[in-house]
Amino acid sequence: MSFRQVRREILEEHCALRLGLANVEALCNRLEHGDERSAHALVNCGRALYERFAAHLVHEDQILISALGVVAGRAIAEKRSAEHREQRELLEYLLGRLDRPGYPALLLARELRHFAELVREDMQEEEEFLLRRDRPVRSLDSVKEAPIK
Ligand SMILES: [Fe+2]
Ligand SMILES: [Fe+2]
Repeated sequence: MSFRQVRREILEEHCALRLGLANVEALCNRLEHGDERSAHALVNCGRALYERFAAHLVHEDQILISALGVVAGRAIAEKRSAEHREQRELLEYLLGRLDRPGYPALLLARELRHFAELVREDMQEEEEFLLRRDRPVRSLDSVKEAPIK
């Protein structure tokens, strides 16, 4: 796999995540404007967004972290790997809150808005810095290094 392929796969997932963010934010708007029927859909869309982001982290850990170790240096790869660990902890916490019976929908909407902001910033940083187009596009297969934790 080349770094170009890694970039393409990650950008496709970011695109799908942005659609999920837009769906969730549209539901937040409806709920905040008094449409209480949106509460159930918001829980489902929120859960789907959290799960999609969790799957994205797994995929990035599989293909992006080791690639970064090669094209950007081990320190940058390890930093991003640590950030993914923190993001997984946050997701676990947020998913746990979704399962609370009677959890207020407006509170959930506020949490999802903060989460959406965080995910947008995260993707922008990855795209502008980690996935920069001037990174080398050579194959990454030949590089054998100790795994990045
Ligand atoms: Fe990431
Ligand atoms: Fe990402």
